[in-house]
Amino acid sequence: MPTLGATPVGERGAIGLAPRFAWMDGRLIEWPSAHLHIDTHCVLGGLNVYEVVGAFWSEARQNLFLFRVEEHLRRLHLSAKVMRLHLPFSDAELVEAARALVAANEFREDVGIRIVAYFGAGPVFSYRPEEISTGVFMTAKPVGQGRRPGLHVCTAGWSRMPDIAAPPRVKAGANYQNVRLAQIQAHVDGYDDAIMLNSAAKVCEMPLANIFLVRSGVVVTPDVSTGILEGITRQTVLELAPRLGLRAVERQIERSELYAAEEVFATTTLTGISPILSIDRYTVGRGTPGPLTERLQRRLDDETRSESNLAWVTPVYDRRASP
Ligand SMILES: Cc1ncc(COP(=O)(O)O)c(C=O)c1O
Repeated sequence: MPTLGATPVGERGAIGLAPRFAWMDGRLIEWPSAHLHIDTHCVLGGLNVYEVVGAFWSEARQNLFLFRVEEHLRRLHLSAKVMRLHLPFSDAELVEAARALVAANEFREDVGIRIVAYFGAGPVFSYRPEEISTGVFMTAKPVGQGRRPGLHVCTAGWSRMPDIAAPPRVKAGANYQNVRLAQIQAHVDGYDDAIMLNSAAKVCEMPLANIFLVRSGVVVTPDVSTGILEGITRQTVLELAPRLGLRAVERQIERSELYAAEEVFATTTLTGISPILSIDRYTVGRGTPGPLTERLQRRLDDETRSESNLAWVTPVYDRRASP
């Protein structure tokens, strides 16, 4: 009998190509058997917190590298703390599970690893965390086409939800209804994606990415009090910019600055840096990826695939056992 909701191995499902194995609550599990009951808070209310960690393939080193996994786990802990969700696994166990999952699927290409800590079974009309079980599951899937060459975006009619209502710095599944509305509207209106403003009309972020612009040669991104997810790639770009001799600042950004910018780009774990070529049909710069965007892209690419910065990367395959 077919298993309801399960994508057959090797076929494209709701969130990409289905691999052989998932990981759930302490063990590797065949993909079609990776189920969570319908009567759980995760399924009913989207009550989970999660991370998407990149594992990037280095042809030169014949290995996959998890990029900044410690920072992802730190953010997972913050999300779990605010949600009052107890994480039943240690960081060391989660990193080992992520490596084991990727290795079991024998990936030799860029992979996105989704780590989801969820609220499970408990009374449905109470949110008391002590009455609800928790667990963790992981999926790992090839990134596929990877980086997007250039985006044509709009400013969204839906604003980013304020910190006082549902903090965007918490990466909770339920928070994604907000950005989803903006992304879908952008697609319906013929754009690749959307830039969201906050309720004070300041530039905030994109549905699944942070945003940067370049003005007079300075790299600028909204500061963390704007109401954004504090992206790991955003942080990486802020750290890499000075190493390339660039000034990078975090501050509030007005909507019309988007139209005045020389360059605009988006940052996110799996696709890195994506140039934005037009906003609300205003051309950004010359309508081609800008020179600073491309320099940062190259540097980020180098960092994600190498062992040059040992603090940032964790190899997946043990050298001696590597396939
Ligand atoms: C709302 C939102 N903002 C920003 C980002 C980028 O964050 P990171 O660079 O950590 O992937 C994401 C990632 O998915 C996101 O969902």
